[in-house]
Parts: sequence; C-alpha cells; structure tokens
Amino acid sequence: MSFSAEWLRLREPVDHRSRDRALLAKAARYLEGKSEPVIYDLGAGAGSNLRGTAGALGQRQRWVLADYDPELLSASLNFLAAWADQPRATAAGLELEKNGSLIRVEVKRVDLNANPAPWGNTIPDLVTSAALFDLVSERWIDRFCEALAKDKLALYTTLVHDETAKWSPPHEADQQMSEAFERDFGKEKGFGPSAGNKAIGYMARKLGALGYAVELADSPWRLGADDYELIGQLADGWANAVRETGTVVEATIQSWLAARKRHGTNCIVGHKDLLAIPR
Ligand SMILES: C[S@@+](CC[C@H](N)C(=O)[O-])C[C@H]1O[C@@H](n2cnc3c(N)ncnc32)[C@H](O)[C@@H]1O
Repeated sequence: MSFSAEWLRLREPVDHRSRDRALLAKAARYLEGKSEPVIYDLGAGAGSNLRGTAGALGQRQRWVLADYDPELLSASLNFLAAWADQPRATAAGLELEKNGSLIRVEVKRVDLNANPAPWGNTIPDLVTSAALFDLVSERWIDRFCEALAKDKLALYTTLVHDETAKWSPPHEADQQMSEAFERDFGKEKGFGPSAGNKAIGYMARKLGALGYAVELADSPWRLGADDYELIGQLADGWANAVRETGTVVEATIQSWLAARKRHGTNCIVGHKDLLAIPR
C-alpha cells in the first residue's frame, strides 16, 4: 500500500500533538544511560516519527529509517534536513543538529512483510513505528513479536488506528459509511488480511504472553476548525474506500462527503500508543 508524502506531511502536526506524552516519556526513560541509542523506525515514511520523538530523547541518537517506498525515504532525508538546525550529508545519510542534540540518520529500503526484523545483527536499543500496525495481519504480528522477543528488544509504537472515526454534526449516512469503511479497512494491505482496529490489542496480548511489560495509551486525533484540510482529505479517503466496497449508492456518498467538507465539521479518530519492555 502506498502513501503520499503530501498526506504524511498534512497529518504530521496532528500526529505529534495526539501522541500520549506520558508513554513517550517512559520510552525515553528506558533509553536513559545509553550514550547513543540506536532507534529503528519501521514504516518510517517521510520521517515524521523521528521528528515527533527525538525531542524527548537524549543528546546523541542514531536512527535507522526503514520503509519499502524509495520516494518516501528520499523525502524523509529532505524533510529532516529542512527540520534540523544544522544538517550535514554523510555517506550513510545525514547528521543533524537539532536543539543541541546530535542525530545520525540512515535510511534502509526493506519490505517488512518479507522481513519483519530488518535490524539483522545490528541490534537496536529501541524499535519504533508510527501509524503502521493497523495495516498488518495477526500472522505478521506473531512473526514480528517473536523476532522482537528473540532479541529482547523494546517497542514503542504510536498512532495505531483502533476505533472508527466519529463525525459531528451527525449525518444520516454516518452509520452506513462507517460500516462500509470498516469493511474496507479490514482488507489486505500487503501483510496478509489486515487486523485493522484489532491489531493493537492483539499485539499487546501477544507481547504480554512473550513476557513483556506492556502499556497502552490513547492517542486520538481530535480534529476541528484548524484541521479543515486534513478533515477534507480524510473524508475523501473514506468516500473512496466506501466506493470500493460497492455497498453504498453514489448519491449517498456524495451527500455525506459534501456535509463532511463543510466548515464546522469535527472528527475524532481513535488511536493507541503502546510501549513494551522486555522483563
Ligand atoms: C501510514 S504510513 C506512516 C508513515 C510514518 N511512520 C508516519 O508516521 O508518517 C505507513 C508507512 O508504512 C510503509 N509500508 C507499508 N507497507 C510496508 C512494507 N511492506 N514494508 C515497508 N514499509 C511499508 C509505507 O510506505 C508508509 O511509509
């Protein structure tokens, strides 16, 4: 499944303000004492998770951004260079100075479906991801969690979609649109049948059974007047997904879409963050 850099840029500020600060602080505490922790970001896209996490971590960090989309990986280097106070190109990628921290970054092109543990022998101090695990299947979660446990690696993941969006003001087609959207959300996304909204709970139980201390926290998007453009794109995404199911007539989709694109629409989208520490 492919994602545009433009969509990831649009959601970035909302993603950053929505993540649970207490869980992020706990992830940071786990890395305290490491002189230059290595953080492996799965499905890194255009680098938003680094930009949203690095400020909570220590003064030296090394990040590996893993994704299968070469255009997004290339965009990540451009966006990170623009975000840094001082960017320097290196043979491996970038060295960034940001708010007094030094962050070394490299990118790695990898298909996570084929290889859920792309760190290989370069064992990181923390595996992380944002907005990824609602795409994967239960079978993939099993493979991934078993690989994490084998290497005794901690996981911090954020913004995993777990609840259907709630729109306001209400529209008569909300229920129908929501049911059709959820049907589409459960489709294959390149990792086998998608666990969708159930993925994060399944992952928490799996990691618990593997002996991890697991904590979950809510990180909902709360979208209002200032998020007009994001709401519009979200509504377009819903309309396209619903059309694919063929279960809602076009006139109903159009009426719902027009209402959702009106100023004054609000939307809450449920997400969860998870921190799993090996015992
Ligand atoms: C919703 S985006 C999230 C991107 C980024 N983490 C963020 O928060 O902006 C999901 C990302 O997973 C990547 N992805 C999807 N399937 C993948 C696969 N099989 N292997 C590697 N990356 C994949 C996509 O290219 C995309 O960058």
